[in-house]
Amino acid sequence: MSRLLSVVGARPNFMKIAPMIDELKRFPTIEHCLVHSGQHYDELLSGNFFADLGLPKPDVNLEAGSGSHAVQTAEIMKRLEPILLDYQPQIVLVVGDVNSTIAAALTAVKLGIGVAHIEAGLRSFDMGMPEEINRKLTDAVSSLLFVTEQSGVENLKHEGVPAEKIFLVGNVMIDCLLRHRELAARSPILDRLGVRQNGSSCRPYGVLTLHRPSNVDDPKTLQGILSAVSALAAELPVFFPIHPRTRKNIESFGLGRYLTGGAGKDPTGIVPLEPLGYLDFLALNDRARIVLTDSGGIQEETTALGVPCLTLRENTERPATVEHGSNQVVGVDSERILAAARSILQKPARRSQRPPLWDGKAAPRIVAILREHLQREGLA
Ligand code: UD1
Repeated sequence: MSRLLSVVGARPNFMKIAPMIDELKRFPTIEHCLVHSGQHYDELLSGNFFADLGLPKPDVNLEAGSGSHAVQTAEIMKRLEPILLDYQPQIVLVVGDVNSTIAAALTAVKLGIGVAHIEAGLRSFDMGMPEEINRKLTDAVSSLLFVTEQSGVENLKHEGVPAEKIFLVGNVMIDCLLRHRELAARSPILDRLGVRQNGSSCRPYGVLTLHRPSNVDDPKTLQGILSAVSALAAELPVFFPIHPRTRKNIESFGLGRYLTGGAGKDPTGIVPLEPLGYLDFLALNDRARIVLTDSGGIQEETTALGVPCLTLRENTERPATVEHGSNQVVGVDSERILAAARSILQKPARRSQRPPLWDGKAAPRIVAILREHLQREGLA
């Protein structure tokens, strides 16, 4: 019997682990323990995702909660260590680039447990971004690096990682999206928001998401983005599911005047919404005319869906979404955002291709490599 333990913590982790759990179930000789760090604890950011994705209740919840980066990371490490000592997994699986990812990787490697990192090698080359620090450090202590796109392989090689640790396997987040797309299409969200017309056709609408500290913690930047999007929202309604951090800042900076839109019959303006569950958000993105975001994962999801995406950042760690997909990195200057958005609305949607191996089969590839590794190391 082999024992794997996965750690998840924040919203973008859950859809990455779901296809892994499904695949691992096929192998009765692998026992799997799912640990939730508790980094995200709101129903809207966590519980609803477990329900939508059919994820099992975590075996352990560390309930580490919010705090400064140091406090949050340290709290997760302190609470995870005794679990690892007790469970004695052969491998700890971590996904993505959040604080839970680095905290778990560091705790495991210090106990001599091998770490496998899913979504390794991505680099924005911007160390001002907390996720970039998490990515680099997690990769540095991982012994198996599962990469979503070719740029990740190049980055790791450039950092001197031996080729035998690097595996280009595709994208588990896209596995999850392709598996849930049909189910999501049955979500009533488009009717609720008033954009579905007689059966299947939709009025054009946009989607906005913002949560990155560099965008939402600075009043001027946040105002610039909201003013560009509200000009765009005079042409088509823009639905804005708001992350708790962003909502708090919009209120405290007095920027609520930009969120004047209302859902329902004939929606207009920027329409503020609570954070959406996985299926509702997938349904909303799938039919959007344009998506504006500072998220990493949404750049990938829109690429897979072929929906035009404007990334409101100065860089992306996911260049395949620009090279193959529908993504444009436009920064945070209001005029530039508006010009790019208008240009998308004027033209028929640009053709987008999925990057190589974004075919829904990343999780089976990863599990095959993990099994081989366990056998080779005599851990199976
Ligand atoms: C985290 C990740 C980010 C990811 C994002 C997705 C890090 C460094 N950042 O950012 O990469 O894209 O999740 O959402 O790990 N809060 C709540 N309810 C919760 C959790 C948080 O209200 O369930 C509020 C708290 O005020 C908290 C703040 O959001 O202080 C930030 O939460 P945190 O987990 O530190 O980072 P995110 O901004 O969510």
